[in-house]
Amino acid sequence: MDKIIQKVLISETEILARCKTLGQQITQDYKNKDLVVIGLLKGCIPFLSDLTKNIDLILEVQYMVASSYHGSTTSGEIQIKYDLENPIAGKDVLIVEDIIDTGQTINTIMNLLKARGAKSIEVVTLLDKIANNNLRAKYIGFEIPNEFVVGYGLDFQQKFRNVPYIGILKKEFYDTKGE
Ligand code: IMP
Ligand code: MG
Repeated sequence: MDKIIQKVLISETEILARCKTLGQQITQDYKNKDLVVIGLLKGCIPFLSDLTKNIDLILEVQYMVASSYHGSTTSGEIQIKYDLENPIAGKDVLIVEDIIDTGQTINTIMNLLKARGAKSIEVVTLLDKIANNNLRAKYIGFEIPNEFVVGYGLDFQQKFRNVPYIGILKKEFYDTKGE
């Protein structure tokens, strides 16, 4: 990975340790609740996997695909490309996200799930660019500066999700593929 990554921001060891702590916290908070974990594909996969192994409760996992229109305008409208399979009315929903940037994606999804009658809705995000939003997730893995990161599920143009830690790509990868 040294050929790809300019700088490691968060190591795999740090991520796994954080997943353990968050999982224990969620286990305490959701005792006696009807927990449905909703993963936002595709970026959530490694995080959801490591996190839920540390949640010692009976729970249901569902997935959604939401993506923002990448048109010429900056207004990011969110489109649901794949929806939940089962109803969530009356359930305690925990949304699992890879990263919160502007907060637009998570905001839209939260409003949608509220309208469907979830009993409670909280967010667990691996990363949060806190300077870019004023939405505070209940559970935050790591606060990061406003830099574009890849790895551990996060992509640049659908690649680099398999990098086992959070890092910053070498500049040449952005330069050669720029839109
Ligand atoms: P938001 O709607 O602005 O909060 O954007 C959230 C989505 O943008 C995330 O789910 C990611 O798919 C993507 N994103 C934001 N920042 C990064 C980054 O640094 N690396 C990779 N994807 C990112
Ligand atoms: Mg995402």
